Amino acid sequence: MHKPFLLLTLIAPVLSAQVRVASPDGKNQVTLQVDSGRLRYSLSRNGQPLIQPSLLGMQFTGQPALRDSLRITDTTRATHDETWTQPWGELSHVREHYNEVAVSVEEMSAPNRKFVVRVRAFDDGIGFRYEFPDQPALGAFSISDELTEFSLADNGKAWWIPSNRPRLDRSEFLFSSSPLSVVDSVQTPLTIENSDGHSVMVIHEADLEDYARMFLAGPRMESRTLKVALAPMHDGIKVRGHTPFNTPWRTIQVADSVTQLAPSVLGLNLNPPNVLPSTSWIKPMKYVGIWWGMHLGIYTWATGAKHGATTARAKEYIDFAAANGFGGVLVEGWNTGWDGDWIKNRSAFSFTQANPDYDLAEVAHYAKSKGVALIVHNETSGGIENYERQMDSAFTLYQSLGVHAIKTGYVTDTIGNGDSHYSQTMVRHYRHVVEEAAKHEITVDAHEPMHDTGERRTYPNFVSREGARGQEYNAWGGEGGNPPEHETILFFTRMLDGPFDQTPGIFDIFEKSSGHTHSLQDARVRTTIARQLAHYVVLYSPVEMAADLPENYKDQPAFQFIKDVAVDWDTTRVLAGKIGDYVAVARKERGGPDWFLGAITDEQARTLDVSLSFLDPGKKYIADIYADGPGANWRTNPFPVAITHRPVTSTTRLSIRMAPGGGQAIRIHPAP
Ligand code: NOJ
Ligand code: CA
Repeated sequence: MHKPFLLLTLIAPVLSAQVRVASPDGKNQVTLQVDSGRLRYSLSRNGQPLIQPSLLGMQFTGQPALRDSLRITDTTRATHDETWTQPWGELSHVREHYNEVAVSVEEMSAPNRKFVVRVRAFDDGIGFRYEFPDQPALGAFSISDELTEFSLADNGKAWWIPSNRPRLDRSEFLFSSSPLSVVDSVQTPLTIENSDGHSVMVIHEADLEDYARMFLAGPRMESRTLKVALAPMHDGIKVRGHTPFNTPWRTIQVADSVTQLAPSVLGLNLNPPNVLPSTSWIKPMKYVGIWWGMHLGIYTWATGAKHGATTARAKEYIDFAAANGFGGVLVEGWNTGWDGDWIKNRSAFSFTQANPDYDLAEVAHYAKSKGVALIVHNETSGGIENYERQMDSAFTLYQSLGVHAIKTGYVTDTIGNGDSHYSQTMVRHYRHVVEEAAKHEITVDAHEPMHDTGERRTYPNFVSREGARGQEYNAWGGEGGNPPEHETILFFTRMLDGPFDQTPGIFDIFEKSSGHTHSLQDARVRTTIARQLAHYVVLYSPVEMAADLPENYKDQPAFQFIKDVAVDWDTTRVLAGKIGDYVAVARKERGGPDWFLGAITDEQARTLDVSLSFLDPGKKYIADIYADGPGANWRTNPFPVAITHRPVTSTTRLSIRMAPGGGQAIRIHPAP
């Protein structure tokens, strides 16, 4: 145990004290200080301030703010260096190396509450959390406000989506960028490029287990201070709990350039290790599904003449998956409850009862006989009581049928009782689902999810999520689809928290299959086909869909890339990138020698010069290149794909030419 240094020991009580902890490489330094009874933290990198002294504290309901008349009573230090293996991921091995300081703090006046602020400083960022020990003045509690602030030293460029919009309690927005000083109320991960052009940081949270989701409320302009805003339950309370109690970690990832942000492991390192006794049943895979047809309006989830989920069609999809080497088939609309308004009637969903034209057992059996995993869809429409009531019997049934994968859905603004979709209630719900699923050896891919805070380290069966505007927006029209720049922003924002089930691979870019005449200019995909291929590499998920209708892959040479591309990676390198403009990523497949390269651009044509120095020196490879073909342009002619093959080595430089809204996808495999 060390006492805080710079401690003024001669006067009691201590009015001013500072404690510092630096990352193993010495670049990131956190200072905790008490001045006039208030506890603040600050962060600097390479001696430059990033976060100025920022308030820490908590407002419990019916108690004075835990913020004033504080003093530091003790300090303990630790250091940790371990490399752990991910069962699946963007890289196999993750180094968890940090220096830690735990600072004990106490109120100098009644009610003399105590807490600990634990800070971990890593080379790629920092995390800190509050820990409340059991104590007479703090047993059962409710939190009305967390007082944590982030006072940014610089008025950087922030990339954000809004939060707290009435009736829009979700994450499916297009991103905006603005000076931090005009940010209002935003979701995390919040990526901020500092105006010096040399540093970037991402504010987020880790290990959100039994707490409310964190938003950031806009700065008081002159001070550039973001304040934590917790998602409320219907009565305004943010968190209910009992000591001993730890909050999630508040994380600040830092890097010298945006290309160093991914793959992001800070959040993973701040979650507890895997608790599952076995993970052999968790299989990264590509999948197809009875899905896009509903979004295009060719089929329906509801019963009737156009019902998509029939036994016969499911078998056709299973045959298609088996013939093309895909691991899974998703079937939506198989169960009862979709007829009528399925958002209003959310308690009508059954998770065990199939519609008459769909035989769940037969489809599951057929899938198994073909070596294909059936992915069972559980849309809840936010009716979590209805879902929780049926979960055990549903998961027991699926397990008995050999089903190891579900996709869940929460199309709703608020849940039944008015709690926010991101409240503690829902945090508990998502955790409960993933724990129950694990007991039945079932993986979860959640749409309209709670945001990812790294819990896949603890529960690797939480394989993927949506939590952003995915491909589906390109089918609907109305609100407009996703513009070409969308994914070039997502890579540096939302994708830093975890996998994204974006569902790439639409080849019928103008959606002619749906009978669109194109008077509806907005119902279409806004990329080239080559760019759809690149998304498999750029937008990481261990479950990647080939989302188009099977017939749209017929006689398409570019389909070969979707068949070839890996979904599980040993290592990941960001080769080039600029938020909102372009990104190029190389990933090496796990358990094999191939590398895959994906590059995407916004609406600007662009050529990137890329070195293949990541390849094994001296080894000969062949690159299968899927580039935007002559005349390709997302707007007018998204279809041409030029497929070429050329020998490459670690000394090769490739010139990656991309059309407006285009991209390039490359498989690099050892030469025969
Ligand atoms: C929204 C999901 O994102 C989508 O994938 C799903 O098909 C619909 N909800 C219906 O559950
Ligand atoms: Ca969605």
